[in-house]
Amino acid sequence: MQDQWLKMWDNRYKQQVYVYGEEPNNYFKEQLSNIKPGKILLGAEGEGRNAVFAAKLGWQVSAFDISHEGKKKALELAKENDVNIDYRVGSFPELGFELDHYDAIALIYAHFPPSLRKDYYQLLDNCLKSKGHVIFEAFGKSHLPYRSKNPKVGGPQDIESLYSIEDLELCFPNYKSIELAEKEIELSEGIYHNGVGSVTRFHGVKM
Ligand SMILES: C[S@@+](CC[C@H](N)C(=O)[O-])C[C@H]1O[C@@H](n2cnc3c(N)ncnc32)[C@H](O)[C@@H]1O
Repeated sequence: MQDQWLKMWDNRYKQQVYVYGEEPNNYFKEQLSNIKPGKILLGAEGEGRNAVFAAKLGWQVSAFDISHEGKKKALELAKENDVNIDYRVGSFPELGFELDHYDAIALIYAHFPPSLRKDYYQLLDNCLKSKGHVIFEAFGKSHLPYRSKNPKVGGPQDIESLYSIEDLELCFPNYKSIELAEKEIELSEGIYHNGVGSVTRFHGVKM
């Protein structure tokens, strides 16, 4: 793990405010609300807004990230909301998540470094049960001009870290797609995601 990358996230989360807000991501909220609660794994979960929302709906929640500062804030948010989450910090393949175990996996703005992407998605797929759901939203390949026009919308500045529809098809082959699209949306999430941007969304069911 690159020290600079980890330091950037820890410093971001050392701020007192919840930098992406305390409310769940809209797409995650909308999609998860239609699925019967079971066990869910959230990757790159940061300060825990989505994990806490899922736990309040009755899901048994596991999450991971590289940031200890993110975990601290996620556990505080969970405590305030009177729910429990299993939140692990470190390199995903070393965190011991069970295979063939989860009913859903959520990746919300999980812009993993491109070199890790293939292995991480394979392992995530292995953790998901058959008929399990993947809910995904991240900045899309068309996002860079939006970011140049309005840096407050946030997101990676390099094209390799953004997701095309084809990337999702490659990462999740053998899924029945409920939705797979890149679209322009308006974001209002804390202090780092504000304004119009282009996102790629995927909700798929493992065949
Ligand atoms: C834009 S934030 C999104 C946080 C959260 N999913 C949300 O929607 O509020 C991206 C997150 O990815 C995490 N991250 C970056 N690289 C990672 C990696 N290799 N493994 C796990 N998490 C990573 C960061 O620490 C950060 O919390």
